[in-house]
Amino acid sequence: MNPTLRGKVVVITGASQGIGKATALGIAKLGAKVVMVSRDPARAAEALREVKQQSTNDDVETVTADLSLVEGAKRAAAELKARHPRIDVLINNAGLVPAGRELTAEGIESAFAINHVAHWVLIRELFAPLVAGRARVVMLVGQPSPIDFDDLTCAKGTYKTFEAYGRGKLASLAAMVEWQRRFAGTGVTMLGAFPGIVDTASMKNVGGIFSTAFARMLMRSPEKAARSSVFCATAAGLEQRPLALFSGDKPMSKFMAPKGWQEPGLVKRVVEATERLVSQVEAGGQRLTA
Ligand SMILES: NC(=O)c1ccc[n+]([C@@H]2O[C@H](COP(=O)([O-])OP(=O)(O)OC[C@H]3O[C@@H](n4cnc5c(N)ncnc54)[C@H](OP(=O)(O)O)[C@@H]3O)[C@@H](O)[C@H]2O)c1
Repeated sequence: MNPTLRGKVVVITGASQGIGKATALGIAKLGAKVVMVSRDPARAAEALREVKQQSTNDDVETVTADLSLVEGAKRAAAELKARHPRIDVLINNAGLVPAGRELTAEGIESAFAINHVAHWVLIRELFAPLVAGRARVVMLVGQPSPIDFDDLTCAKGTYKTFEAYGRGKLASLAAMVEWQRRFAGTGVTMLGAFPGIVDTASMKNVGGIFSTAFARMLMRSPEKAARSSVFCATAAGLEQRPLALFSGDKPMSKFMAPKGWQEPGLVKRVVEATERLVSQVEAGGQRLTA
């Protein structure tokens, strides 16, 4: 263990497998207190054991919650706040390419719920501990798709899993802009980490060429992919680069970087739609209409 992050509290969502687990290991090796947030308790326990053993850092813990539910994200945030009044880094890594169209028990389309709404609620609920840590908040960048704001549950037409995923990813990028505005003057920095095309469980639902054995051989390993998130969490001076998107230790190339996500009209619509969805759920926990 190289204890350069000793004393820092780093929260990583979706840390039970794939890129999140590799990120947790990379950060644990740097000596931070690592909190691994994920959904499945058995996978979480196994990942915790592996990360502790491979990093030789015993200061690693888990929180389990279904973050795709507003109620679940709020419960996870309450537990995190109670344990850690100061958070130095939050890596919003949890994500999903769904197998098919599904609504959460709260009535939100599941890809939009986990790829975007979950992070929105976590940041909102963790505002004070993030400010206390003058934190870095890292969002995982994925291939964006246009959002049909009149059909957020994807009820119209044929459901395309990768497009549904991309809507959540575009919304989470646009939300970064709003959070950076709300965090102005607090020292909190919003950053994006692009992991590359990575051989993980999520990829099996992408379909097409991405699901072939040959394509999977060409993909990055989760360990290599985690370098982008570890860089955003740890590199010196990134406070001067709010809203920058990194691939490894370099800014994303113009060719690869998502386009249009900082456009004020889009940011406004994402914020309004997200706040409406969340407040409808909070107003009584009723199912939204499909
Ligand atoms: N793979 C790629 O090529 C690629 C490319 C660009 C961006 N990304 C982004 O990288 C991030 C990690 O993706 P990955 O490929 O490593 O995925 P993965 O291996 O499938 O891991 C997903 C993680 O998210 C957690 N998660 C999923 N749904 C959840 C829920 N409802 N509540 C709490 N946790 C939940 C999972 O927890 P459980 O194990 O408990 O289910 C798991 O730890 C995602 O944000 C993804 O969009 C990936």
